[in-house]
Amino acid sequence: MYTGLLHTHSSSWAITVLLFFIAYFLIKANKEKGAKIVHMILRLFYVIMVLTGIGLLIQWNFAFTFVLKGILAISLIYFMEMILVRTKKDALAGKGPYYWIMFVATLVLVVLIGFNVIAF
Ligand code: HEM
Repeated sequence: MYTGLLHTHSSSWAITVLLFFIAYFLIKANKEKGAKIVHMILRLFYVIMVLTGIGLLIQWNFAFTFVLKGILAISLIYFMEMILVRTKKDALAGKGPYYWIMFVATLVLVVLIGFNVIAF
């Protein structure tokens, strides 16, 4: 059970990040149909990440470090959605730099905690 969840989780995270960038550049290029499809697949990957993440969290008996990682990961998903939806609506305005900085910061923390580089 644990190995299956971990394999799914660790092979999906890079695809999630990749799909985010593909969706972003498709939106920027005004390729509406393509962007919509990629964004839909990306949302499916959010679900996979969250469900397998919760599964792993249960296996780890809700260890504090990983609970924190989960919270940061949910924030990361929020920042990805904000960047995509607001770029699409052309409503990123002054908030653009804030969302991008938070995206990079939460992504780096989530991956470092995931690979046990940072532990508490
Ligand atoms: C887009 C969001 C996420 C990203 C980019 C991400 C990334 C990662 C990465 C890179 C790892 C290390 C995988 C490995 O060792 O091969 C990991 C492990 C883990 N993730 Fe996530 N994750 C995300 C969402 C979540 C969520 C929402 C939760 C919890 C609710 C979660 C809980 C965990 C746990 C508990 C581990 C530790 C697995 C272990 O070492 O046994 N993750 N994650």
